Amino acid sequence: MTQSYNAPKGTADLLGASARGWDFLQQTAREVFGRYGYESIYTPIFEQTEVFTRGIGEATDVVGKEMYTFEDRGGRSVTLRPENTAGVVRAAIQARLTDNGAQAKLYYAGPQFRYERPQKGRQRQFYQIGAEALGQTSPLADAEMILMLWEYFTALGLSKRSMRLLVNSMGDDVCRPAYRESVASFIREHSSELCEDCARRADTNPLRAFDCKKPECRAVMDKAPRISDALCADCQQHNDAVLRTLDAAGIKYEIDPKLVRGLDYYTRTVFEVQVDHGLGSQNAIGGGGRYDGLFQDLGGKETPSIGFAVGAERILLALEAEDVDLTKNDDLIVYVAAAGDEQRDAVFALAMELRGRGLITLSDLQNRSLKSQFKQADKAGARYVLIIGEEEQQRGGVTIRNMENKEERFVTPGSIIKMLTK
Ligand code: HAM
Repeated sequence: MTQSYNAPKGTADLLGASARGWDFLQQTAREVFGRYGYESIYTPIFEQTEVFTRGIGEATDVVGKEMYTFEDRGGRSVTLRPENTAGVVRAAIQARLTDNGAQAKLYYAGPQFRYERPQKGRQRQFYQIGAEALGQTSPLADAEMILMLWEYFTALGLSKRSMRLLVNSMGDDVCRPAYRESVASFIREHSSELCEDCARRADTNPLRAFDCKKPECRAVMDKAPRISDALCADCQQHNDAVLRTLDAAGIKYEIDPKLVRGLDYYTRTVFEVQVDHGLGSQNAIGGGGRYDGLFQDLGGKETPSIGFAVGAERILLALEAEDVDLTKNDDLIVYVAAAGDEQRDAVFALAMELRGRGLITLSDLQNRSLKSQFKQADKAGARYVLIIGEEEQQRGGVTIRNMENKEERFVTPGSIIKMLTK
C-alpha cells in the first residue's frame, strides 16, 4: 500500500459540522456587518514580509517567533499572513481608498498562519473574520465597532452571560513612550520575581509582560503602573467618550488596564471578548482596537482607523460548549427515487427540473435499489421522496412520500412545486 497523509500539525480540515459552522459564521457576518455598511475585501494570503514586520512590529511574538516566512523562487522574502489588518491597510493605500479623507468599511474572512504551539483553540492555520473601519477619528467609531462585534457574537447564538467584554486604552505617541518606560523600570526593579521572558521584555517590549500567563508574573504585574493613570488629555477624553457611548448603548464591559494585545500597531482603544467555558487558556474569541499610525508605518498618509478580528475555531468551540447545534440542516431537501431501471431517465430529468425551480434536489446516480435510495434520502435528511415507478409513469405523475409522517399520495408534475413549497 502507498503511504497516506495527514493534515500538517496545527492545521485541520473543515468538513461536516466544522465546514457548516464556518459557512454559518461567514453568512452571519455578511448579514450583521452588512447592516453597518461593510463591504468585502480579499487580500493575498501572502505578502511581502515587510508588510508584517513594519505593520505588526519587530518586537512582537507574532513577528519574532510565529511567522511563516520564506524566500520565493525569485528570491523575494514573503510571509503567509499571520493576520489580515496589515494586508487590508496595504491594499487600501495601494488602491488609494482613503485619499482626500475618504472612509472605507471593509470586512474579510479567511485563513491566517502563525507558527504557534498547537492546543485546543490554537492552530497554525486558523480562520478569522474581521472588520476594519478606515479613516475614522471619532470615538463613536470605536463604540460602533465594539457594539457590532457584540451584536455579531449574540447573533451567532452565544449568550451574553457567557461572554466578557474587556476594554482599555493603550495611549498614543504622546503618552505611551513615557508609560512604556515606567513599565520597563518596574520590570527591572522586579526582574528577580519574574520569569526570564518577562525580565527580558524590559528592553524589548515591556507591555507584553502584562500578557504572561504565569501566576508569579501576573501577581507582580498586577502592581505595575497602570496606563489609565498615564493617559494624556486627548487620549483620556477619547476614552471617556467611548465609554460614555457604550454606557448609553447599555452594553456591559470591564475596564482591564492589563489588556495590551499582542500587536504593536494599536493606539488608544483596545478591546477583547473572552468566554468563560469551553476554551481553557485560549479564551479570547475576538479582539481589536484602534490603529491610528498603521497607514504611516506602511508608507501611507495618516489615516486613523479601527477594527477587530474573531477566531472561527474558538467561536465554534464556544458555541459547542453552549450546546448550540450547528449540525442540523433545516433546508428543504427533496429526493427523487426510481422504482426500477426503466425510470432512471425520468428521475434524472425531474431532478434537473426541480433544481431549475430552486429546490435542493438529490437523486441516485449509481443504479441503487429502491430500498437503498430510501436509505440515502434518509441520511441526507430529505423531507420528501418523489417516487417514479411504472404506474406513476403511466399516469403521468409521481408518488410523493412525506418522510416525517410517512404519508404517500399521487401528484401530477404540475402540482409538485406548489405542494413542496407549501
Ligand atoms: P488577534 O487578537 O491576534 O488580533 O486575533 C484575533 C482573534 O483570532 C483572536 O481573538 C483569536 O480568537 C483568533 N486567533 C488568533 N490566533 C489564533 C490561533 N493561533 N489559533 C486560533 N485562533 C487564533 C488580530 O489578528 C488583529 N488583526 C485584530 C484587529 C483587526 N485589530 C484591528 N483590526
